[in-house]
Amino acid sequence: MPLVRWSDDYSVSIKEIDDQHKKLFDLINDLHDAMKAGKGKDILEKVLKELTAYTEFHFSSEEILMQNCKYPDYKQHKVKHDEFTQKVKEFEQKYLDGSFLLSQEIVQYLIDWLTKHIKESDKQYSMFVIKANFA
Ligand SMILES: [Fe+2]
Repeated sequence: MPLVRWSDDYSVSIKEIDDQHKKLFDLINDLHDAMKAGKGKDILEKVLKELTAYTEFHFSSEEILMQNCKYPDYKQHKVKHDEFTQKVKEFEQKYLDGSFLLSQEIVQYLIDWLTKHIKESDKQYSMFVIKANFA
């Protein structure tokens, strides 16, 4: 069973970004499923690397959108992205060097951060971007 399901509550009304958020949900669910199924280190490593890479790709897509529209809170938003990217990379690095085990708490942290960020921060910039494009 997936840990989290995407619903319209998470929509930022920009299809490209919604699709990217769905993909992030899928990757976190994959990580959760692989852990629950007791998959080996190679599989977990693969999913974790994909999650890190996709997170970076997704954040840069959002940042380009915000910059293109001169979003006034761009800097604060980018700080949040950078902090999360740092965390995910740290998890990946520690997992790879064997100093750290993935746990349910980690997966829960990822999903809690992402869902809160979408609802509180992404919806704000997306409204601005949508208005700017129709102005
Ligand atoms: Fe964001």
